[in-house]
Amino acid sequence: MPSKKDGSTDSVIMEKEARLRAWFTRKCDPVLKVIDGLDIGWGGVQRWVTARMPAPEGGRHLDFSCGYGTFLAELGWRFPSIPLIGLNIDYEGPHGQIRQLLAEAGVQAELVQADARKIAFADGVFSSVSCFMGLQDIKIGFGGDGERASLSEATRVLRSDGTMTLVDEYSFDKFDVLLNSLPLRVTERGERDLDTRWDREVAERAIPLYAEGWVAQARVTDPEDRKRIYDKEHARMETEMARQFRNQGYYVPFGPMRMVIARKIG
Ligand SMILES: C[S@@+](CC[C@H](N)C(=O)[O-])C[C@H]1O[C@@H](n2cnc3c(N)ncnc32)[C@H](O)[C@@H]1O
Repeated sequence: MPSKKDGSTDSVIMEKEARLRAWFTRKCDPVLKVIDGLDIGWGGVQRWVTARMPAPEGGRHLDFSCGYGTFLAELGWRFPSIPLIGLNIDYEGPHGQIRQLLAEAGVQAELVQADARKIAFADGVFSSVSCFMGLQDIKIGFGGDGERASLSEATRVLRSDGTMTLVDEYSFDKFDVLLNSLPLRVTERGERDLDTRWDREVAERAIPLYAEGWVAQARVTDPEDRKRIYDKEHARMETEMARQFRNQGYYVPFGPMRMVIARKIG
């Protein structure tokens, strides 16, 4: 039976992250290398999550909102004998490089293009499910209803006693509200900061990029709506950046990250 022990240790995973990061940022200038490099490993958080989540034993694992597959890579390193399925709404633009990224990582995963609000799998076919920083993007594009529908679907395709691992910047109270109407029992919670400290040059370059990313996730086409969203998010991030430089002298772009692990009951 596949188990957690099959996988790489933290120090081996850190080496794999460093190699993948070097490939991922190969065309970037030094500042962009820091910004884009964060996507590989997410400041130690992805490693921290896979070390804590139960080994997905005896079946397939679904990672929804898999983006360009950075968490799939970590799952593959930690649990190499688990069949992985990644699901994302599109594999275009930045997500177009997912196959190459997984090949560079040495991880195999079946990729499905689908909306997480309607997961095209039968009930109970996965032994475990995860979503790393995907809920907030679903919420930006499809609102609270979209977020709830995605969690309901993820629960439906999970087998009884299977585990769901969710990671986002949400408070535990918000996770509770999202999960408490579903047949899930929370078994573990954890919180962790990114091990990243950016200086002003990196922070000021990152914020417009993140605001553009927010606009892309909002899925609006009207130029005025796009500008309004950009300006609002840019201003919010700038205020947060100023607060962090004032209080601690460096900028951490995300976090604290919170992880909730739940088991399906019934
Ligand atoms: C920030 S990324 C998550 C990071 C990703 N898990 C990783 O490991 O790199 C969020 C992703 O959610 C996807 N997404 C947004 N709405 C979605 C939906 N309704 N169904 C499936 N994927 C969705 C976006 O395309 C985006 O790639």
